[in-house]
Amino acid sequence: MGKNKKKLRSKDWFAPKDEKMGFIHRSWMRNQGYPDDYFRDRPVIGICNTWSELTPCNGHFRELAEFVKRGVLEAGGFPLEFPVTSTGETMMRPTAMLFRNLASMDTEESIRANPLDGVVLLTGCDKTTPATLMGACSVDLPTIVVPGGPMLNGKFKGERIGSGTFFWSLKDKIHNEGFSPEEILEAEICSARSAGHCMTMGTASTMACMVEALGLTLPGAAAIPAVDSRKKVLAHLSGRRIVEMVSENLTLSKILTREAFENAIKINAAVGGSTNFIIHLLAIAGRIGVKLNLKDFDDLGSSIPLLVNLMPSGKYLMEDFFDAGGLPVVIQEMTKHLHNDAITANGRTIGENNIGVECYDPDVIAKIGEPFKDEAGIAVLFGNICKDGAVIKPSAASKELMVHEGRAVVFETVEDYHESIDDPDLEIDENCVIVLKGAGPVGYPGMAEVGNVDLPEKLLKKGVKDMVRISDARMSGTAFGTVILHISPESSIGGNLALVENGDKIFLDVPNRKLHVDIDDSELARRRKKWVAPKVHSDRGYVSLYTRTVQQAHLGADLDFLVGSSGSEVKRDVH
Ligand code: FES
Repeated sequence: MGKNKKKLRSKDWFAPKDEKMGFIHRSWMRNQGYPDDYFRDRPVIGICNTWSELTPCNGHFRELAEFVKRGVLEAGGFPLEFPVTSTGETMMRPTAMLFRNLASMDTEESIRANPLDGVVLLTGCDKTTPATLMGACSVDLPTIVVPGGPMLNGKFKGERIGSGTFFWSLKDKIHNEGFSPEEILEAEICSARSAGHCMTMGTASTMACMVEALGLTLPGAAAIPAVDSRKKVLAHLSGRRIVEMVSENLTLSKILTREAFENAIKINAAVGGSTNFIIHLLAIAGRIGVKLNLKDFDDLGSSIPLLVNLMPSGKYLMEDFFDAGGLPVVIQEMTKHLHNDAITANGRTIGENNIGVECYDPDVIAKIGEPFKDEAGIAVLFGNICKDGAVIKPSAASKELMVHEGRAVVFETVEDYHESIDDPDLEIDENCVIVLKGAGPVGYPGMAEVGNVDLPEKLLKKGVKDMVRISDARMSGTAFGTVILHISPESSIGGNLALVENGDKIFLDVPNRKLHVDIDDSELARRRKKWVAPKVHSDRGYVSLYTRTVQQAHLGADLDFLVGSSGSEVKRDVH
């Protein structure tokens, strides 16, 4: 570390010119039992821990952090673990997404305010990855990500049961497949049999693949199950590596180039990643200053075939993906589509990292010449109800509904939907289009995962499995169906979705990227005159700040004042 001694920002705290300030910074830290040389010679590595018992997917992170520390110490660093806001997907009301930006602020300010030279992000459950990465980008120190890993495969009556994916078909399982209450109770524990995050290719697995594809992890990190001993080895090696990254000054902005983002979009298509990927990647790009827009996801990703046969688009789970070779196999298959010279956290390029890897199960990870499905990626739709865009994941949708015309059945709010969807008198059939409003960033608030609303009970009983559903909401990455999401601008700020009424004709044409309502401009103008904006959710606290400043979905739903970076310098000291 000798030649880089002057560059360590932690020395501004621990070995400053003003010895009085050095005393104050060191003395209180020493109550934890550190010897003096820790403050003099070692780079300080912050281990940003999203552990919380209320975020069960990250419940094993205290132990994982110990393995990171082992690696940091071995490499001559000084590890200091710190907590940040943890966002448990299944717990937080009204939605964890409301708090992604809050957690990112917490991460950003915790990193900048403290004497850190490099950072390890411990991430797992959906929002913990983008939130901490967004925050870290706005500081731009050397940073490596350790994804916490998926749960072991769910197993129920000898069959795979995917977290989330089983849950989304619960209504159908009860009404059509005759599942008893006891069986459902058993399925609960069978789909959560170890530590870790959802083991489908839901949003958490998508985020883990995203950080590996961006080059922010050591190779092969994404798919290692949470309880596999190799996850501990990954944490250990990441601890060693971050110390080297500090000495190389390999900051986030050197890895997160436009090319890295393009790689991530293509790899996300090949793995069949969640639609939430779009919103998070846009927000991360905004923080690090890379230009990215909604159309990039379609232009770059929609010609990539689906290689990975995982739920919700396929039948396997993350443990199978890991056993088959994991993301390195996908990256190698994708060589001709990628920027292979993009630099990654270990200092090598993504191409160098993934040469010569072997696929152990072609049924789980297909060859690019014989893909699992031809259509992958994300289709971005435009039209008079989504002027700034809307998205659909074709691999999780029904082929026969990709071009569809149907009568709108409109629900003004999610409460309105719950109240009337199973009303036997509701005029709805399988050709109708379910329209849900009031679920966007401002409207819900926080753009909840409610877009994949259940079908009406009476249609499920008839054996209907899918219908076109459109909304300004998101959907869980573990969900499936012909679900159009992220309509922008959202209904609650007066987007044209707000003006759709029962009985309107909706046209969907995914091959031509169109979604519109058959109303002419003068009728839209007439309806707009009568439209009244919904009441604000709160005039105080974080919810008020969020709803006043959140950007729309096509921009990544970050708070407008958080876009960009403030760097790592803090000029004033505490006294
Ligand atoms: Fe945490 Fe799915 S609920 S990853």
